[in-house]
Amino acid sequence: MEHALRIMAARADGALLDLPWRAPLSEWPDSIVEALPRGISRHIVRFVRVDGRILAIKEIGQPVAAHEYGMLRDLMRLNAPCVEPLAVISGRVDSRGEPLNAALVTEHLPYSLPYRALFGKHQRPATIRRLIDALSVLMVRLHLLGFFWGDVSLSNTLFRRDAGEFAAYLVDAETGELYDHLTDGKREYDIDVARTNIIGELMDLQAGRLLPSDYDTIEVGNSFSQRYHDLWDDLTMESSFSADERWKVEERIERLNNLGFEVGEITISADLNGARLSVQPKVVDAGHYSRKIMRLTGMDVQENQARRLINDIQQYRVMTDRAAVPQTVIAHDWMTHVFQPTINAVPAELMGKLEPAELFHQILDHRWFISEQAGRDIPTEEAVASFVENILRHQRDERSFLGPTSGDTDYVVTPTGPSAITPTGASARTPSEGTAFTPPGGTPSSGNTAPSGMTADSGGTAATGNTASTGGTAPSAESGS
Ligand SMILES: Nc1ncnc2c1ncn2[C@@H]1O[C@H](COP(=O)(O)OP(=O)(O)OP(=O)(O)O)[C@@H](O)[C@H]1O
Ligand SMILES: [Mg+2]
Repeated sequence: MEHALRIMAARADGALLDLPWRAPLSEWPDSIVEALPRGISRHIVRFVRVDGRILAIKEIGQPVAAHEYGMLRDLMRLNAPCVEPLAVISGRVDSRGEPLNAALVTEHLPYSLPYRALFGKHQRPATIRRLIDALSVLMVRLHLLGFFWGDVSLSNTLFRRDAGEFAAYLVDAETGELYDHLTDGKREYDIDVARTNIIGELMDLQAGRLLPSDYDTIEVGNSFSQRYHDLWDDLTMESSFSADERWKVEERIERLNNLGFEVGEITISADLNGARLSVQPKVVDAGHYSRKIMRLTGMDVQENQARRLINDIQQYRVMTDRAAVPQTVIAHDWMTHVFQPTINAVPAELMGKLEPAELFHQILDHRWFISEQAGRDIPTEEAVASFVENILRHQRDERSFLGPTSGDTDYVVTPTGPSAITPTGASARTPSEGTAFTPPGGTPSSGNTAPSGMTADSGGTAATGNTASTGGTAPSAESGS
């Protein structure tokens, strides 16, 4: 019988045809398979390098692959944070003519980390809070779009660094469904599944001694649910006030913007005698600041990174004393005179460690930190050099976070469940967070103990407050514009 390989894809990608579809994914040669970390999964998932890109390939039944492909495409269309689907390959047979499962091909999400990769020797419970926050924002975004996930978990989510926080992306849409309007029952179901899965995943980290044994996993699961509901209520609640408090409409919109969400339309209704007004905002999507920075600079960055960059542009405006100059002009000058020179000062071979916007954020934090230590304003060039030598060099590459030597770190899943995940290969290493800060030449300016903030999960985020430091520029909140 004649067998034909079928490729369902949005665009023709000839390189896909060159992959060894006649072999089961588990037998693909090391010459094309990349050892990248990945989450826990029932199916075989492997990463391959094709034409300089990295693709994630999941072997799975054809109907499920087609469904997941369709879901991911819908989510992309809706601008939801998720992995990009490329194709479904079906009609596969092996060399003996035996049928093989279909394959779902997605683009590897650059700089993404599965949650397990964030836990090593230096894990901090604060990291979990950040992951939980990111996942609750993702859930709210998906629910606002009418997406029911059905299988929410940390393993089905990827995380990217976002200026001291994390941004979460959906990676597994197998059980997803899209509705015009999601019922409260469906939303609650998702939250309940998430809560149960989070608790299970954290207990699993505990079993592997990656979290302290007295860590309260149930409390974290409950706090996820709380965070989700608080945010959902903030975004969708109707608010009511008296007619002489109209400014509260503006205030409500600003509050939603500050949460990072964009308001599409707002319905205002008055009661019969016009004494009270009710306001019902319709939130369109997150990404308020990232859209703004995109307009100003053309850069596509995460929400908190965007907030940070906009703050820096504001400060640049103040420092250069140009209050009346349009923000687009200031932003252009800032790109040329501040952002680009800072990024260009980072050696090219270290550029794969962090995304440029994340690099910039961490350099700013570092400058603040060392300025405070030194009691004087450290110039940017000096801060970059110190950051590169003391922090960046010691961090792992996160663009496509590779094992120590290509091919020798792989994560295998045995049927006994999550805790059975073990890195294979002689030099497999435990991914660890951040790198402790060591002052230049080991001679610290004040004492030789590493400031605890510098082992943070964002790879050295010391400053989170808004107060100006001695000389340095403290991270500050968006001051409007
Ligand atoms: N495009 C991608 N970019 C980065 N990592 C990916 C990508 N696709 C898959 N992964 C990694 O592979 C892991 C497994 O993928 P996925 O969850 O889709 O598999 P699964 O077998 O369907 O999972 P489940 O057991 O939940 O059904 C993910 O947790 C993620 O770490
Ligand atoms: Mg999964």
